[in-house]
Amino acid sequence: MKCKKCGEKASIHMRQHKLALCKEHYLEWVPEQTERFIKKYEMFNREEKILVAVSGGKDSLSLWDILVRLGYQVDGLYLGLGIDGGINYSHESQRLTEEFAQRNNLKLHVVDVEKEYGQSIPMLAQSSHRGYGKPCAVCGLAKRHEMNRVARDLGYDVLATGHNLDDEAAVLFGNTLHWASDYLLRQGPVLPGTDGLSRKVKPLCRFYEREMTAYAIMRGIEYIYEECPFAEGSQSIFYKESLNLLETARPGAKLIFYLSFLEAKKSGNLFIEKNESLRHVHACPKCGQPTTTPDFCSFCRMIEKAAAEVE
Ligand code: AMP
Ligand code: FES
Ligand code: ZN
Ligand code: ZN
Repeated sequence: MKCKKCGEKASIHMRQHKLALCKEHYLEWVPEQTERFIKKYEMFNREEKILVAVSGGKDSLSLWDILVRLGYQVDGLYLGLGIDGGINYSHESQRLTEEFAQRNNLKLHVVDVEKEYGQSIPMLAQSSHRGYGKPCAVCGLAKRHEMNRVARDLGYDVLATGHNLDDEAAVLFGNTLHWASDYLLRQGPVLPGTDGLSRKVKPLCRFYEREMTAYAIMRGIEYIYEECPFAEGSQSIFYKESLNLLETARPGAKLIFYLSFLEAKKSGNLFIEKNESLRHVHACPKCGQPTTTPDFCSFCRMIEKAAAEVE
């Protein structure tokens, strides 16, 4: 297989795009495509301040690398979750994120959930019973809350995450199976900002996971190979594996699934009525973030409950 641009030996063949590229041209192609998606979905411009949430994994570190190369003003945020799982997961991912920031002379904010709230994610999960034995639900809630909080408190216009096509297609698959209309209406590359919340964007949402792995490796980015130790056996991994079966038989299926959804949503053909009147959005009296749950937001309630149990 030869590179489509220069005819040299290709380093990657993307069947779904009918495109093969050598390392040099692949490392150009990924940022070019990212820039195209940023413009197409009107994510942000070069005057805006961007905060990228970096987990130490290949996607978010590559995203940071790409946005800096494209000339955007972008700082990083690492959230310390206190997850060990026998592989020192949080410690190792923090170390790799800090090294990346140092090597590239970038500004990184580090927020440790345990220092901030007195309890790590596994501790919160134990006391709240929300995780059904696994802390993933608690972790997701805390990550979202903390990313939103830091972005708002530090005055960033935009919060960017490293979700790739495999992540987005798996979420879409789950939302479709459950016909979760509220979530379907909110899913997409951009979630507009509101009072108290920065705009949220996913610039990598059209790249296959495999493409991001190839980018990180070819670029020489050191990232944490392990998945979170709690992710094993999770629903999202099962959905990803199911979609991969489809993709093997029909290259491009994952991308078509996601893009057809976005197209239908854009032209108002999702056949879901917005029912805003049922959902009363108000500011959480404790943290100020918008919420639809009565009184405190789910995160603040979880922290209160866990604190009460410790006392
Ligand atoms: P996940 O929820 O683990 O699939 O991660 C999705 C995205 O959330 C990543 O690409 C990151 O942008 C962000 N993220 C996940 N974990 C962290 C973390 N510990 N600190 C900062 N950002 C994170
Ligand atoms: Fe949060 Fe795994 S439980 S990353
Ligand atoms: Zn080439
Ligand atoms: Zn709150």
